[in-house]
Order: sequence, then structure tokens, then C-alpha cells
Amino acid sequence: MTTVKQIPTAHINCQLFYVSEAQAGQVENLKMLIAEHALPIILDIELFPEKLNQKRRQQLSETSTQPILLLDEKNKLSWLSDGLSVAPEWDKLQRRVVSAGRKSELLLQAAKITSDSTVIDATAGFGHDSLILASTGAQVTMLEQQPLMALLLLAEQQRMSTLPNWQKPMSRLQIINTDALSYFAKLQAESVNAIKENDAKVVDVIYLDPMFPEDSYQDSKTGKGAKVGKHMQALHQLARPPTLEEESQLLQSAQAIVSQGARQGRVVVKRPQLAPLLAHQQPSESWHNEAVRFDGYFV
Ligand SMILES: C[S@@+](CC[C@H](N)C(=O)[O-])C[C@H]1O[C@@H](n2cnc3c(N)ncnc32)[C@H](O)[C@@H]1O
Repeated sequence: MTTVKQIPTAHINCQLFYVSEAQAGQVENLKMLIAEHALPIILDIELFPEKLNQKRRQQLSETSTQPILLLDEKNKLSWLSDGLSVAPEWDKLQRRVVSAGRKSELLLQAAKITSDSTVIDATAGFGHDSLILASTGAQVTMLEQQPLMALLLLAEQQRMSTLPNWQKPMSRLQIINTDALSYFAKLQAESVNAIKENDAKVVDVIYLDPMFPEDSYQDSKTGKGAKVGKHMQALHQLARPPTLEEESQLLQSAQAIVSQGARQGRVVVKRPQLAPLLAHQQPSESWHNEAVRFDGYFV
């Protein structure tokens, strides 16, 4: 008789501090998000009514061996990374999102999407670029491999959906905790069958903003280029840059997916301005400012 071994899924144990009894409902909401999206996160929940000033945050970070999440008095969920609270904070992007257009956003020049476009942001991170993409009216599927980041995004989407001006853009975002390569493989397998039945889903744009070595945002000689902000610093603790092999796989499978529709699809890759090309592949066109570069691969 053969026995089937159950492979244990790695779960992240995470501490969640909330500040008042009145937040019990919100804590339940977070538990529901974790269950609904099958996020491999186990929460160790604690009421923490003390004022969380900077010194206290630093102490908490230093003494805990687990990632720490904080639910503040406004029900904003953040991650305490090296004493700094980081969160998607989509409300802070309101001005940019409202006025976003091809003139103001290089990403939109590169992506060239319209309100009927279907977009995959395959490396969602804090979701800032997804918001810019969704400001056009397009549907954006956000892929994020890190469960903790996916939870921050889902909680932010839930929080922002309660604000009247944000309901529409929020309804256009779909957040999935997955590795982009496995998601692309699944899409490709599905589309082989769908093409036979004339029911293939079209993806117009795939956007890739993979991690980049922390020391390569600035030119070491001239000091030119972008400084790493607190959001990126925090991300460097969770995610590593892809290998060259992974870069090639990402780019190739993304190109294969956007080539399936009748419309001309494109893959857009974000890099620090001075960074080498993804997978050493020459783009069809590039757009850049002093800090970043968007490389467009038209299919
Ligand atoms: C540089 S950040 C993206 C920042 C994002 N563009 C924003 O506006 O906040 C890269 C993110 O992509 C995620 N990531 C990297 N490789 C991935 C992959 N293969 N599949 C899914 N997510 C990935 C990382 O966990 C990280 O959160």
C-alpha cells in the first residue's frame, strides 16, 4: 500500500497588535480575509492599548522574532518593519490618481491602456502602480507572492472601499496571492482550451516591477538615481531580486500571454533609471525620467 504524504504548507506566524476593544470586529474582518483568500498566515492577536510612539515601535521590532502587524485607531493595517510602520496608504495617492494621465504618468505613456483594457500587475508590492493603472478605468489583476503583502493589499482595498470616491477604482482591482510564474502557467494552460472553444480571455498589458538589488538604485560613481524609500527598504526584507533565469521566464511567459489576444499586447517593465535591461532583452521602446525607466515590449 502506498501512503500519500501530506506536504505541509509553510505558514507565516505573525503578531497582530490592535489598540482598542472597539476593533474586535475589524480583527474578525482580517481573519475572514485570511480565510477567504487562503493566505498562509497565522495571527497571534494581542490588544495593545499603550501609545505606540516611535521608541516603542522600535522596541517591538527589535524584540519580536515574528513579523508584526499593527491595526491603528483608524483601522489602518500596517507592517512594522525595523521600527517603521509601512502600509499601502492608498489615500495618500488620491491627488495623483485623480489627475493621472499619459502626460503626468510615464507608466501610462508606456502602458497605453484604455478603460476597456485588461491589465495584470504581476508584482503588486504596495499596489501604488496598480492604482495608477486602474485610474484609467481598466481592470487590474494584482499578483503578489508574499502573503503578508497580499494581506496588507486586501485590507487596504477593504478599507478604501468604504470611502465614496474610491468605490469604483476599488471594484476594478482583483488581488491574488500567487507567484506570477505559476499564475502565468495556469493562464496559458486555460487559454489552450479556451482558444479551441473560442472563449480565450484577452490580457492587454502585463506590468512587471520585480525587486532590484538594494544598492543599485543609485549610480555608485555619480550618486544619480533614486533614493530607496521606506516602502522599498521594507520590501527588501521580504522579497529578493529574481535570478537571470527567473527574469527570462517572467518576460517570456508574460509576452506569450499578451500575444494571445487579437489586439496588440505589451509587457511593460519598470527599472531604476540606470539599471540593466530585464533578462538582457532589448525593449521595443523606453520611457524614463531621472529616477525610473519603463521598458515596453510590444508583441
Ligand atoms: C518592487 S516591488 C513592486 C512595487 C509596486 N510596483 C508598487 O507600486 O508598490 C516588487 C513586489 O513584487 C513581488 N514579487 C516579486 N516577484 C514576484 C513574482 N514572481 N510573483 C508575484 N509577486 C512577485 C514582491 O514580493 C514585491 O512585493
